[in-house]
Amino acid sequence: MRRTMVAGNWKMHGTRASVAELLQGLRNMALPGGVDVAVFPPSLFINQVIDGLQGKSIATGAQNSAVQAEQGALTGEVSPAQLADAGCSLVLVGHSERRLMGETDEMLISKFKAAQACGVKPVLCIGETLAEREAGKTLEVVGHQLGSVIEALGVEAFVNAVIAYEPVWAIGTGLTATPQQAQDVHAAIRAQLAAKNAEVALNAQLLYGGSVKAANAAELFGMPDIDGGLIGGASLNADEFGAIIRAAGN
Ligand code: 13P
Repeated sequence: MRRTMVAGNWKMHGTRASVAELLQGLRNMALPGGVDVAVFPPSLFINQVIDGLQGKSIATGAQNSAVQAEQGALTGEVSPAQLADAGCSLVLVGHSERRLMGETDEMLISKFKAAQACGVKPVLCIGETLAEREAGKTLEVVGHQLGSVIEALGVEAFVNAVIAYEPVWAIGTGLTATPQQAQDVHAAIRAQLAAKNAEVALNAQLLYGGSVKAANAAELFGMPDIDGGLIGGASLNADEFGAIIRAAGN
């Protein structure tokens, strides 16, 4: 059976004080069994979060990492080896906000590979824009984004990775894909994996992201190919995030 995952992407939010407050809420949270919980703070706060979550089964991930595994002359970057050393077990790769900043398929494939080489599990983010959806190109776009990684690294690379489907039009907009819209894309993603390796497809954790909140989480997570969520805004509030985690545990 696939486990469910609920992960909070804090994006570029937080101060030392607000992170301390959020950590207190996370520490006090009763976590249901069977749900993998993770948070992705800005890299500046990774050490604070890892220290603050000692002894709590919440994994810490980074929002980005460098194209190469080892440290080197890459000003402003953080290598996945450094993330692993800090205690990070996950990293987001190819979030649409980074693709918009110019991150190409080639770059994110290097990041994905470098992260895995360091034992840091990539969470590959894919999703279409509103214009692409309205043009009927959703499955083509998502299929290409996933396909380029499969082509470069092989489907077996997804034995140790997570995929997050995040329609760009649903991110931070309050617009959520309907459970059926999300399910349709998730089923296509799983079918694309299955065409290469049925077992990889069966075990792959596919998360939905885009305006998930406590009020819509249970319905989304109830769909057969949705294995949890990648939560932005709602993960900054411990009560709301906790309610989403509980929805995944039911
Ligand atoms: P929101 O939940 O704020 O829409 O963000 C989703 C997201 O981008 C998570 O990575």
